[in-house]
Amino acid sequence: MFRADIALVGFGHVGRRFALLLDECRNHLINEHQLDCRIVGIATRRHGSVFEASGIDARELARSMDHQMLGANVSAADLIAKLAASDAGLRVMAETTPLCIRDGQPAIAHVEAALDAECDVITANKGPVAFAYRRLRDLAERRGVSFLFEGAVMDGIPIFNLVRETLPGVTIAGFRGIVNTTTQHVMMALERGQPFEEALGRMQQRGIAEADPSLDLDGWDAAAKAAALANVLMDADLTPHAVERDAVGPDATDAAQTAMSRGRRLRVVVSAARNGAAVDAVVRLTELDSQDLLATLPNTANALILATDLLDEVAVCQMAGDLTQTAYGLLSDLITLRRRAVRQMQS
Ligand SMILES: NC(=O)c1ccc[n+]([C@@H]2O[C@H](COP(=O)([O-])OP(=O)(O)OC[C@H]3O[C@@H](n4cnc5c(N)ncnc54)[C@H](OP(=O)(O)O)[C@@H]3O)[C@@H](O)[C@H]2O)c1
Repeated sequence: MFRADIALVGFGHVGRRFALLLDECRNHLINEHQLDCRIVGIATRRHGSVFEASGIDARELARSMDHQMLGANVSAADLIAKLAASDAGLRVMAETTPLCIRDGQPAIAHVEAALDAECDVITANKGPVAFAYRRLRDLAERRGVSFLFEGAVMDGIPIFNLVRETLPGVTIAGFRGIVNTTTQHVMMALERGQPFEEALGRMQQRGIAEADPSLDLDGWDAAAKAAALANVLMDADLTPHAVERDAVGPDATDAAQTAMSRGRRLRVVVSAARNGAAVDAVVRLTELDSQDLLATLPNTANALILATDLLDEVAVCQMAGDLTQTAYGLLSDLITLRRRAVRQMQS
């Protein structure tokens, strides 16, 4: 049996769902992957932190966190240093703090500290990959560990895995997609004459809109996803600030309804294309033909269409995203780490 010690930096919606999923999948991980996972530490911002080298009952904490503070305050840096001292076969830091759209911090510092200490990193946070992908990838390579982030874009739907594992020899020339559920829902409501505030309110009520909805409406969430996708799939060196953005507000109603009356659809589309040696990425309010796959998506669906050199266009759709899918992104990263360890032992 192979042991993985896991430190959770961030224990909010995603971190807690991941802790519960690890417990739900315990038998599968042991039987199919000979992987025995132990959560050894948790760091949060206001709820305290905890480290216990022999493992903690994170399941119980995940259920009771709303009412309870964790123990003494161990900083994220201390937690990572303690994780690094473990003798487990895999030492994994799972980063799920909120995205800071200004500079991607403190998540980048957390990831950097863990990689530097020769721990593997899995994250659902877009920040590190959208702001500092090359630096972190190179650091991971130098330290002989992995930096994985499948949950960062379209939750657990495999995008990065798809290209890395199943499209060998294929070059991604560009992409276009709908990757922000809140603005997708708002645009569909506006074209049907429904009020902007009500549509946004529904997304807030369902916990889909960001805590600060301007991150969705001003295109920042989509820009971070576009930068992450371009950096990883096209070897770009972008940050979200290099991605031009259109905002969505009540003033988009006329254009959405005019497009609708002509049998077309106005949608928030992210896209990227090569421009010489550089890559340009944009978030644009775009009028689509009604037959376009992106125009036919139902209410809260997302989709990404990859333009490739050898397979023409490859599309991936996410019909509905939720916390379990995001937590699954982290779980799939964990299994990738285990598979890499097996390959290393065999070589
Ligand atoms: N929610 C989703 O559906 C979803 C989907 C895909 C990706 N994501 C990404 O996943 C990440 C987590 O999302 P979430 O919904 O779980 O956020 P959340 O509920 O706000 O939880 C964030 C957690 O991070 C902790 N934290 C904040 N700053 C910290 C710091 N400096 N050091 C240590 N811990 C810190 C918070 O501590 P306190 O509890 O003390 O505040 C909290 O436990 C975000 O980057 C988000 O963009 C989320």
